[in-house]
Amino acid sequence: MSYDVQDQIALVTGANRGIGKAITESLIKHGAKKVYAAVRDVASVAPLVAEHGVQVMPVELDLTKPETIQAAAETASDASLVINNAGVLRTATALSDDAIEALQFEMDANVFGLIHMAQAFAPVLKSNGGGAFVQLNSVVSMKCFPQFTTYCASKAAAYSITQALKSLLKDQGTQVMSVHPGPIATDMGDAAGLSEIAEPPELVGECIVEALKAGDFHAYPDTMAKQVGAAYHDFATNVVEADIAEG
Ligand SMILES: NC(=O)c1ccc[n+]([C@@H]2O[C@H](COP(=O)([O-])OP(=O)(O)OC[C@H]3O[C@@H](n4cnc5c(N)ncnc54)[C@H](OP(=O)(O)O)[C@@H]3O)[C@@H](O)[C@H]2O)c1
Repeated sequence: MSYDVQDQIALVTGANRGIGKAITESLIKHGAKKVYAAVRDVASVAPLVAEHGVQVMPVELDLTKPETIQAAAETASDASLVINNAGVLRTATALSDDAIEALQFEMDANVFGLIHMAQAFAPVLKSNGGGAFVQLNSVVSMKCFPQFTTYCASKAAAYSITQALKSLLKDQGTQVMSVHPGPIATDMGDAAGLSEIAEPPELVGECIVEALKAGDFHAYPDTMAKQVGAAYHDFATNVVEADIAEG
């Protein structure tokens, strides 16, 4: 499968800042007709709307409130590309007092939110010819960094679900992609203490546009991501992406 963003209508969660904003700008740069900026506070998209006018359409969406996801899917019924970018991080280790609370918080947005997004938007994508569904995972989906154990666990779970979506949505012609950035210079990157090694969020937006066109399942935008991707390549090809019979 291959997907070209030119003249397409997309929805991006968490489009107001960080990687989501960069993705929105890449989509417009590469000819997308319209991007629904799906955010908790629609006022936070004002700078993007000021810059791009009606090409950016704010829509309310909170990953922890399924009714807002369903309502956004009804508003964005003409979207053929959904990029679930929004996510949260707490710096809790497995031994932190707040480990369980942190994991619950992260699972709520990063994992249950993804399931609600897939359930709400799969019919929309089907009715628009299949399209594409992109999930922002991470290098931590493959390797746990103990200083944010619970975040890594939530991103590993999200990656697992993304693999399932690839199979589940194949028959309706939806291309599914799993994006695995390393440290990126955003508020989350700062909060994780990664500022010194972080790379620009624009890399992620550009990588997604290219990888969609190439029909890739895994996408690795930055230096660390590419290192992990190169080491992971054989396992990804021969196990994750291979057609291994179940049971
Ligand atoms: N930065 C990195 O180093 C890095 C590396 C690998 C993967 N990632 C992943 O890339 C994605 C974007 O990260 P980022 O660095 O851009 O993060 P960020 O700067 O912290 O921005 C997070 C975005 O998610 C939104 N958000 C948070 N909780 C939400 C919820 N419950 N419902 C809807 N939107 C919500 C935020 O909206 P508000 O403005 O309303 O808070 C904001 O738009 C995340 O999935 C993250 O896990 C990041």
